[in-house]
Amino acid sequence: DMSVLKLSRPELIDFEGISMIHYFTDNWEKVKNFQARPDDILIATYPKAGTTWVSYILDLLYFGNVAPERQTSQPIYMRVPFLESCFQVIPSGTELTDNLKTSPRLIKTHLPVQLVPKSFWEQNSRVVYVARNAKDNAVSYFNFDRMNMAEPEPGDWNTFIQKFMEGKILFGPWFDHVSGWWEKKQTYSNLQYLFYEDLVEDTGREVERLCSFLGLSTSPEEREKITKGVHFDAMKQNKMTNYSTLPVMDFKISPFMRKGKVGDWKNHFTVAQNEQFDEVYKQKMKNTSVKFRTEL
Ligand code: A3P
Repeated sequence: DMSVLKLSRPELIDFEGISMIHYFTDNWEKVKNFQARPDDILIATYPKAGTTWVSYILDLLYFGNVAPERQTSQPIYMRVPFLESCFQVIPSGTELTDNLKTSPRLIKTHLPVQLVPKSFWEQNSRVVYVARNAKDNAVSYFNFDRMNMAEPEPGDWNTFIQKFMEGKILFGPWFDHVSGWWEKKQTYSNLQYLFYEDLVEDTGREVERLCSFLGLSTSPEEREKITKGVHFDAMKQNKMTNYSTLPVMDFKISPFMRKGKVGDWKNHFTVAQNEQFDEVYKQKMKNTSVKFRTEL
């Protein structure tokens, strides 16, 4: 049983046209000037698209055999630093990254593509982007904001979904995020664009695709072991991956490992909200070819 830090919820600020909070801009000079390495792997996502899942998969692929103690001694957010984060409770993302002794360095970011430090592109670092359909992403984000005191106050579901559609939400519009990164993939070949829905449908297949992107040769047995280890139920039970060690989250409101499903949006959207959302979606996504599945 943990006690939750009583933080005052941060307000949204406009940062280069993106809604942000000070926890992600306070350290901006260091983030902007971050020195990437050619073997760094950047895990980029819109919040709640499956960041932790893919972080854990990559951590196991690289370090599962060579440093098994890593998985039981350090929470995932210490092993895979959150680049732009600058919370008082743990060292900043750039500091954690600079202190990483292992290589490759796995680094997490939620930045829209245009705000990513340019040295990642200059160094031709590999990037794994994970995207999740807008409706489930919104539901997950709403529940996360309710329980995480370091996030802006979400309001009720209807308030939140309106803000989501307007893009007046932390890390900016989902629409621009997923389509901006999709666009990047057309010119930057060291980027693998993954879908949360594909991961749910067949985790083993996606692990295999990741291995081929990363140039890793793993045995089917190893991949099978990893696929089991990263199953929702296993990660929910695992203190090092379920965020129960971070005292800004109130699991009595909602757990971090909440449902892990495709299609949970059907339990939240009213018929009217769904119709409005579909209209907005059509408009905002009319110039991109990225396609999502909202059910399996
Ligand atoms: P839900 O809130 O829909 O359950 P992030 O890591 O980007 O914050 O994303 C969190 C979301 O990914 C949560 O979604 C969480 O349950 C889900 N998730 C994390 N690990 C998962 C796994 N192994 N299988 C399925 N979903 C997972």
